Amino acid sequence: KDTRFIRNICTIAHIDHGKTTFVDRILELTKSVDPRKMHEQFLDQMDLERERGITIKAQPVKVIYNYDGQDYEINIIDTPGHVDFSYEVSRSMAACEGAVLIVDASQGIEAQTVAHSYLAIENELDIVPVLNKIDLPNANIEESLQQVADLLGVPKQDVLKMSAKTGEGVENVLRAIVEQVRPPKGDPNKPLRALIFDAKYDKYRGVIVYVRIFDGVLKKKDQILIMSTNQKYEVEEIGIFTPTMVPTDSLGPGEVGYVIAGIKEVSEAKVGDTITNALSPTDEPLPGYRDVKPMVYASVFPGLPEYYEELKKSLEKLKLNDWALTFEPTTSPALGFGFRCGFLGLLHMDVVRERLEREFEISVIMTAPNVEYKVLLRNGETIIVNDPAKFPEEDQIEKVYEPYVKLSIITPTDYMGNILTHLQNERRATLQHTENAGKNRIIMYFKAPLAEIISDFFDKLKAMSRGYASMDYEMMGFEESEIVKLTILVNREPVDALSTLVHKSKAYTVAKKLVDKLAELIPRHQFEIPIQAKASGRIIARADIKALRKDVLAKCYGGDVTRKMKLLEKQKEGKKKLREIGQVSIPQEAFLAILKIG
Ligand code: GTP
Repeated sequence: KDTRFIRNICTIAHIDHGKTTFVDRILELTKSVDPRKMHEQFLDQMDLERERGITIKAQPVKVIYNYDGQDYEINIIDTPGHVDFSYEVSRSMAACEGAVLIVDASQGIEAQTVAHSYLAIENELDIVPVLNKIDLPNANIEESLQQVADLLGVPKQDVLKMSAKTGEGVENVLRAIVEQVRPPKGDPNKPLRALIFDAKYDKYRGVIVYVRIFDGVLKKKDQILIMSTNQKYEVEEIGIFTPTMVPTDSLGPGEVGYVIAGIKEVSEAKVGDTITNALSPTDEPLPGYRDVKPMVYASVFPGLPEYYEELKKSLEKLKLNDWALTFEPTTSPALGFGFRCGFLGLLHMDVVRERLEREFEISVIMTAPNVEYKVLLRNGETIIVNDPAKFPEEDQIEKVYEPYVKLSIITPTDYMGNILTHLQNERRATLQHTENAGKNRIIMYFKAPLAEIISDFFDKLKAMSRGYASMDYEMMGFEESEIVKLTILVNREPVDALSTLVHKSKAYTVAKKLVDKLAELIPRHQFEIPIQAKASGRIIARADIKALRKDVLAKCYGGDVTRKMKLLEKQKEGKKKLREIGQVSIPQEAFLAILKIG
């Protein structure tokens, strides 16, 4: 195939600015999907994605667009917009020459608009800037055009206008893709170099590898070699995404498609790796990806101890499709055997929990998330701790370091004061500098502890700005800090899975709120239950759960039988979700109580 007629692009945008809808319109315009099968958000294939209206996994699709009598093959990789999933965005970029930057005209540029534009510039992509949702009555077209133009340093006229909803202007974007994005380079006669940019596990077919060919040609029956592992495989099937997978005979330079080659484990086909031909290999692998590092950690335990093996298998399968998830075995005196998992953020953590429950039908108990700390011990050793249960005793600690991020917030200037005060007074953040982001909008850059940002900050920011402010962050490194461990005792027994690490200045407030919240969430028992928080060897807060006075069934005596039955049934169900610790039943919610305070 002639690479002059290929374009590889990804879509980038802040969350909800309309990427997925834009791709829907393109699928229609190029008649790529049978109209009878077309439905909204076609590319969001996971149930979870449709329900939440967000894209979690980047999904490639190939369309054919006829431009002035010439057919062009356009490969589009739709990417997720939420900050937790930025790593998917940078991966997609490595497989493309261009990016369509979509900005919601009623919102203007937001934090991920800026972050992803910078990523696209760094990756030397040709950017097609587009203002979307121009049909909205509250679209602020002129102002938003100016913001995009300023962000990219291009004239305002170069920013296209469209409505992905009505279809207006969408064809112009397709034309612009052909005109402004450079075709892929690549030599079909050189040894094969294919970039693995994603992989997926299929029950029947094993690992399906998503590739972008840079040089050479990949054919069925070829002997291939995965360069970092030096493993060889025979290609069983190759194909393209329409977006359903359709087999083809070969994939040439510039093309995007999939490979099935009897690969059993996704660990054998690592994302960012290069595939070459085993008989005539290249000696130059493509530049790989940097590894993604988890930002937060939490423990996951099976709902019932006997489901440990099943949980393990489920996590292994989930990892095939979710590179950023990490896990290792752990044990808890309170909850038994489980796994310590690493996530990119709270949304990612929530998505993993829901996928475990839905796709793998396994109920889990997840503990509150923590960041990772570096601890210099008195004996000179430095250890990394991401689990409060493993935090050393105070008398062994010389110094503790916690991770800091560079936080950027874009907001209308009206909310700037409140956001600044909140970040400085409640989140231990310091303002670094500010920049204008269009009329009455400002970007503020802060240095802040990651721990303060991952908890409920995002919700707080939205509340403080009536939904108008947006944020992005990147890791800066570790800084010395005063961290103490809060141990929670339920009925005088320490429950490791409830303990947490906090900054010294907040120990008392957090302890008080936490015990109060727990007293609310843990149901009453036949006896009184004290909930206590201990730090540095002292009890610093306490709340009591009063003993249950009435028998639950007492209310029902004489009442009708079905009601009584229902009540019993409900209790049974409820019990399944509780964990007996000592003599006390603790519901799942309690383990996440820390997230709900503040
Ligand atoms: P993520 O994948 O979660 O990052 O979101 P997205 O950027 O893919 O946004 P999506 O396409 O899901 O659109 C978000 C919302 O905006 C949906 O409710 C769309 O129907 C709506 N929307 C998208 N484009 C337009 C448009 O041009 N006009 C109007 N009025 N609404 C639009």
